[in-house]
Amino acid sequence: MKKLIIGNWKMALGYQQSLELAENLVLSQPPRPLLAEVVVCPSPVAISSVANILEGTAIFWGAQDAAEQTPGALTGETSLESLVELDCRFILLGHSERRQFFNETDAIINAKLRAVIERTTIKPVVCLGEDLATRQFGQAEEKVSRQLQAVLAGIILPADRELIIAYEPIWAIGTGQTSTPEQAQAMHQFIRQELEQLGYPNNRLLYGGSVKPDNAASLLAMPDIDGLLVGGASLTADSFWPIVFAQ
Ligand code: PGA
Repeated sequence: MKKLIIGNWKMALGYQQSLELAENLVLSQPPRPLLAEVVVCPSPVAISSVANILEGTAIFWGAQDAAEQTPGALTGETSLESLVELDCRFILLGHSERRQFFNETDAIINAKLRAVIERTTIKPVVCLGEDLATRQFGQAEEKVSRQLQAVLAGIILPADRELIIAYEPIWAIGTGQTSTPEQAQAMHQFIRQELEQLGYPNNRLLYGGSVKPDNAASLLAMPDIDGLLVGGASLTADSFWPIVFAQ
């Protein structure tokens, strides 16, 4: 299976900047066979225009979040149905910044995941990971296991759907401090076992947290790392393409 590389543009770029980055990515794509599946997740205001630029290229687009509710009177929210219209192929759910700054709980993420699976064919990318204190206390696996059980509670995944989990240790996001490939591999192996036990054998596991051109290859070489979720280094074509081509 191809590795999956997702660029998470967060709220870092304005509308014009998002279009410029999409254009740069298309213009600067290295003329070599693309071995990975490539996705970018712009902010909601830019998805439609970025989609117009990326249409027909090898780069797919996705969303960073959406509401679980059906369309209606919910000021400020983005519906899954509108993302389907924009042909979003992927959606991030439960990113640690959503958990930290917007009070998203595992229960909310569970409701969003259920909505994505029941109402769309968009591929959900569920983000989770432990904070530094939890790791230092030696409880990282327990924490991740609890998150997995909570976000997946009662979720029935049809046989033709896959579940994508992004393991993003909070202490590694935007800090320049990456999990070592061995640490990440150990956690991915653990997550894979948990998912199999919970009845989700059709899964892909991404690593995220300070992924850069110089550490991408060693992370992607790990047997249970199926791809990467990239924040800061996805904001320029110069740093994103080397990550995509790192394997
Ligand atoms: P980072 O962000 O690559 O800037 O650490 C990753 C993420 O938050 O998805």
